[in-house]
Amino acid sequence: MSDGTVPTDLASVQSRLTALQQAIEAELAQAQDAAALELLRVKYLGRRGALQECWQALPQVSPEDRPRLGQQLNTLKTQWTEAVRARFVTVMSQAVVDKLRQPSTLDRTLPGHPPVLGHRHPITQVIDEILGVFERLGFAVVEGPEIETPFHNFDALNIPADHPSRESFDTFFLDSPTANEFLLRSHTSPVQVHYLKDHADHPRPFRIVVPGRVFRPDALDASHCFQFHQIEGLVVEPGVTLADLKGLLTAFAQAVFGPATRLRFRPHFFPFTEPSAEADISCIFCRGHGCRVCGQKGWLEILGAGVVHPHVFAATGWPAATRGLAFGLGIERIAMLKYGIDDIRLFFDSDVRFLQQF
Ligand code: PHE
Repeated sequence: MSDGTVPTDLASVQSRLTALQQAIEAELAQAQDAAALELLRVKYLGRRGALQECWQALPQVSPEDRPRLGQQLNTLKTQWTEAVRARFVTVMSQAVVDKLRQPSTLDRTLPGHPPVLGHRHPITQVIDEILGVFERLGFAVVEGPEIETPFHNFDALNIPADHPSRESFDTFFLDSPTANEFLLRSHTSPVQVHYLKDHADHPRPFRIVVPGRVFRPDALDASHCFQFHQIEGLVVEPGVTLADLKGLLTAFAQAVFGPATRLRFRPHFFPFTEPSAEADISCIFCRGHGCRVCGQKGWLEILGAGVVHPHVFAATGWPAATRGLAFGLGIERIAMLKYGIDDIRLFFDSDVRFLQQF
């Protein structure tokens, strides 16, 4: 004990223990951190601590009182140990709470990390822009399947089997039990066939545009890819002529490439239109004077078009006198011209350094 005296009779041991009990309770309540509690533990419960000193009184008290005193000392040891531990838990959790309450050292005025947002692929952007132009011209947007039958991709479009024009639409055929049953569409024109067949029961005028992916077994190079995108257009209205077609396509070209853009038709051949034309726009880089991009011609080819061949209406169950206009444009080609991109493969490489620029 701190005063060095050892109690020698039961009464003085008891009063010492009562004093110690009050002292440890008071000091526990004062202890505010782990270090203070450790000092307290050593002082009362350590090998040379206050409780240990009380054991020295044991031989002095009468033999009949010894067991009770020994038991009492053991009980106190357990109680005080538990009291120190409980106070430790309280002090430490209070420390955590205090820490959380402290004003943060975080600088809330620093700029945050901007979220990394994705955005639409440049091809999707061009498709959406072109569809928007045609929607303002009264067209509805329609879609069709990428896997087709030869009937939709060829026969109904007036491209008979064994006809040489089939070769200009070189095609991926799918493996199937009976050969050549299904194919990947080589253009969006088969959707003309779907739409006409679906509406043959109630033939009436319409304007549709059809965006979609098409497939051709072309060797990959800067301007060819085995997959690309087209937008098909089909107008069925009484009395429409090539002049209406040219008017619609001029409006489209000027909306996409600027109001100074001119459009010209060059005679061409497509099995499903007659007459047929390829349409060029005045070169958007040299304004028609001739440059490297247009090969000094002053014109850029952008689409194929024509008056729908009567065989297409016949194959889809429409009246023989139906008149229609059709056109098909390649999206990658338009996107390349619009953005000055010289390699079609960039659109399919998924390189974010390229895609982020749009
Ligand atoms: N389907 C033709 C092609 O892929 C384009 C086209 C569509 C031409 C409609 C005329 C009419 O080349």
